[in-house]
Amino acid sequence: MQSSFITRRDFARLSVAAAAGSSIPLLRPSILAAQTPSTGRKIRFISIGTGIRGCDLLRAARLVPNGELIAIADLYDMHQKAGVEAYGVDVPTTRDYRPLLDRKDIDAAIVAVADFQHRRVVLDCIAAGKDVYCEKPMSHNVQDGFAMVKAVQENKRIFQVGSQRVSNIVYKKAAEIYASGRLGEVSYIEGHSDRNSPSGAWVYPIAPDASPQTIDWTTWLRDAPSIPFDAARFFRWRCFKDYGEGLAGDLFVHLLSGIQCVRGTNQAPNRALSAGSLTHFNDGRDFPDLLATLYDYPGVTLNLHCNQNNAAGEPVIFYGREATMVINGNSLTVTPQDTSPQPEGYSLDGWTTEAKQQYLKEWHAAHPTPAPRLAEVESWSAPPGYNDTADHIATFFHAIETREHVVEDEIFGNHAAIACHMANFSYFHRAIATWDAASQTIKS
Ligand SMILES: NC(=O)c1ccc[n+]([C@@H]2O[C@H](COP(=O)([O-])OP(=O)(O)OC[C@H]3O[C@@H](n4cnc5c(N)ncnc54)[C@H](O)[C@@H]3O)[C@@H](O)[C@H]2O)c1
Repeated sequence: MQSSFITRRDFARLSVAAAAGSSIPLLRPSILAAQTPSTGRKIRFISIGTGIRGCDLLRAARLVPNGELIAIADLYDMHQKAGVEAYGVDVPTTRDYRPLLDRKDIDAAIVAVADFQHRRVVLDCIAAGKDVYCEKPMSHNVQDGFAMVKAVQENKRIFQVGSQRVSNIVYKKAAEIYASGRLGEVSYIEGHSDRNSPSGAWVYPIAPDASPQTIDWTTWLRDAPSIPFDAARFFRWRCFKDYGEGLAGDLFVHLLSGIQCVRGTNQAPNRALSAGSLTHFNDGRDFPDLLATLYDYPGVTLNLHCNQNNAAGEPVIFYGREATMVINGNSLTVTPQDTSPQPEGYSLDGWTTEAKQQYLKEWHAAHPTPAPRLAEVESWSAPPGYNDTADHIATFFHAIETREHVVEDEIFGNHAAIACHMANFSYFHRAIATWDAASQTIKS
């Protein structure tokens, strides 16, 4: 099977090409370093949920050689087969993951079930002593998040949430630049994640074979209100409050996790204020197709939006006093700000010529040294085909061996998810959402 990921040889070739032609330095994929298992023992894992994301995770996991998929569990027959295809090895499949958790020869589970199902599946895995990679957003609501934090900590498990930007080499470079202080004081950060297509708005096709015979609907719906089989809800669960969190849980969480990672912070916001609308994809869904949220974090204001009606891109912009840093997909640019002293211009328009000349004479006398040349704009990029999910899985497997906490652990994932829940709380309550850490609740 063809891999979309680059090999060691590709990387060498790309680096030479970059040195010869392109002025944008390519960052070195960390996955290459993760390819040598330290103990020689493989991490034996199962995959629970092999729909869209579960299959992507398995394609990425194939590129991480110190892992070995042992079995697949999914409630939908076609997704089981798709999971086998994605990993490229004929492993056993089942609808019921629980007997797999009893096996002592299995170290870990990669969990990619719908958001409202995270809590139950994660708690089952943790109770069975497994380490867990759980897809983002960590929780469907605040209570679920804290239940998972408690279980992970009491059972001393390795737990990683699946917002793969946290292991992305571009974000790591951005974090290094941020920590160096080169941007100066950053008091404002902006991030978007925009799309303009039915697929971008989760209007996913309904597979022709979907039925109560091919899907275990009763188990799928176990932690949500009981309703008759509804294939649209199975495939488009992101649109509904009972199962997902709309744009905040689907996309804000990536922006928030990436920003937490770059800033080296790990906390919930103090306050959030959302606005938005449902103008185009008015198909019976619960969530808006535009969500904009202003977050008040200690020391920084964050402005995020996700729009399903305009594909303006996915930039994350850090506005510093000394430089602006923009992450756009897998590239990074730092543009220095000119903060050297300048004589006043505009506000002297109301001065007489004589007063102006006097001012300028005094200004130049007070600033005899010419301003230093402004630093060049600098850019970096990940190599073509770079796959940050593979790096994120490699990070997880490495932590299983070393028993060291990962960056995107249960606390980090919970904080990012709380911020998503605050965005929705504000939108639906039409009020400012305030985080009350003492009671672990969102208040208005
Ligand atoms: N990190 C990313 O970039 C990214 C991208 C897409 C989705 N996700 C996340 O991944 C998760 C899955 O999303 P998706 O788009 O793949 O959804 P999906 O509906 O395509 O797949 C989920 C699968 O989980 C299975 N499932 C549910 N409960 C189960 C159970 N008890 N036992 C076994 N299987 C069960 C379902 O049958 C389904 O096949 C979500 O949390 C989503 O937010 C993350």
